[in-house]
Amino acid sequence: MAASGSAVGLGNIWKFPYMAGENGGAAFFIIYLALVFTIGLSVMLCEFVIGRAAQRNPVGAYGILKGGAWKYVGFLGVAAGFIILSFYSVVAGWAIAYIFKSVSGLLATSDPAALGALFKNFTADPWEPILYHGIFMALTVAVIIGGVNGGIERTSKILMPLLFLLLVVLAVRSLTLPGAMAGLKFYLAPDFSKVTGATLNGALSQAFFSLSLGMGALMTYGSYLSRSVNLIKTTMLITLCDTAVAFLAGLVILPAVFAFSFDPSAGPGLVFITLPAVFAKMPLGIVFAVLFFVLLSIAALTSSVSLLEVVVAYFVDERGWQRRRAATIGGGVIFLLGIPSSLSLGVWSGFTIGGKEFLSAMDYVGSNILLPVGGIAVSLFVGWVIYPRALDEATGGGAHRFQLAPVWRFICRYVAPIAVGWILVSGL
Ligand code: PHE
Repeated sequence: MAASGSAVGLGNIWKFPYMAGENGGAAFFIIYLALVFTIGLSVMLCEFVIGRAAQRNPVGAYGILKGGAWKYVGFLGVAAGFIILSFYSVVAGWAIAYIFKSVSGLLATSDPAALGALFKNFTADPWEPILYHGIFMALTVAVIIGGVNGGIERTSKILMPLLFLLLVVLAVRSLTLPGAMAGLKFYLAPDFSKVTGATLNGALSQAFFSLSLGMGALMTYGSYLSRSVNLIKTTMLITLCDTAVAFLAGLVILPAVFAFSFDPSAGPGLVFITLPAVFAKMPLGIVFAVLFFVLLSIAALTSSVSLLEVVVAYFVDERGWQRRRAATIGGGVIFLLGIPSSLSLGVWSGFTIGGKEFLSAMDYVGSNILLPVGGIAVSLFVGWVIYPRALDEATGGGAHRFQLAPVWRFICRYVAPIAVGWILVSGL
């Protein structure tokens, strides 16, 4: 449950719809699915296997299973934790802020211009978003200090099905808006002539980001799992769950985007601009809005916890720090690192790296570079370095059936490294 909590988060609800919107809709979605169910599944199993076999954080795990230069792959994961969480927390802060904006009735309009201006003014403010970013980081640190096992699991068990249900309701509302069918077509009728290198690159980084792969988050969680857990089943379940939530989020956002004539390639603001319009067209809209942003914040929290846990597990296991100290210092540094991301939508918007403002640049470095590199490493490691041991771990010493083991090995050895490497390099 905690691992699905890690997977399901802003990646599914905030990022997936705007990535699909920016990258041609249905063609993006189909490529995404193909990548998730081949490379994504395989890499996830690799991470669980390594984590449970080594019973360690990523740096320690590579160290103990093989040592040598492999340890640096673990460090890459810790670095990705810092980078990804810094902007993730900023966006999660927006979700918390929107809880209060919904309560106050501020968002109760379906006028695209008004909602766009609201979002812009809020994110451009130099203080308000940073305050919420700070609140979110503090919550993440608090959960980490309490330990991931108890709270996160219980939270995920109850609230995630509720989030799923709410998305179903919202999808029905969105799909029955006049003009919604154009959005449905955009989302589900592929036009492969629109596929470019950027589509592939976007789909790949989105797959890694959404499934929490490539930085050792699931490796760390794997190290907390008991030997009796069936990792193959667990991997299947998490992947299906994560994909279902992303699919539903697309089904909520994209039809509404077309119904209200928003711009599907509006980028990171898309969900925050589009959804209030949907709520405004519902009876009890304010109640739904509040419920949605509360659940979104919690989904983000169960993901951010797994990001910080990688950092904390490293400092606790390898450096002998106290858990509380590691969480507070790690969280504090990440909070500071997030400040330029937050300002990049306002006063610092003029400062760009490679044509991207700071927040998108951080996302790019984390999701489009570090995660795929980590994914290549993890699959090479399992496929070539520790395969017999990995197979034994995956099947629980032969207790669980795994007919597709040869396919897994083939993907780890060849398909994942080559495909991911090729997409990565062509993206750069
Ligand atoms: N998978 C999370 C989401 O979709 C984000 C995440 C990425 C979490 C990488 C952990 C590691 O929101």
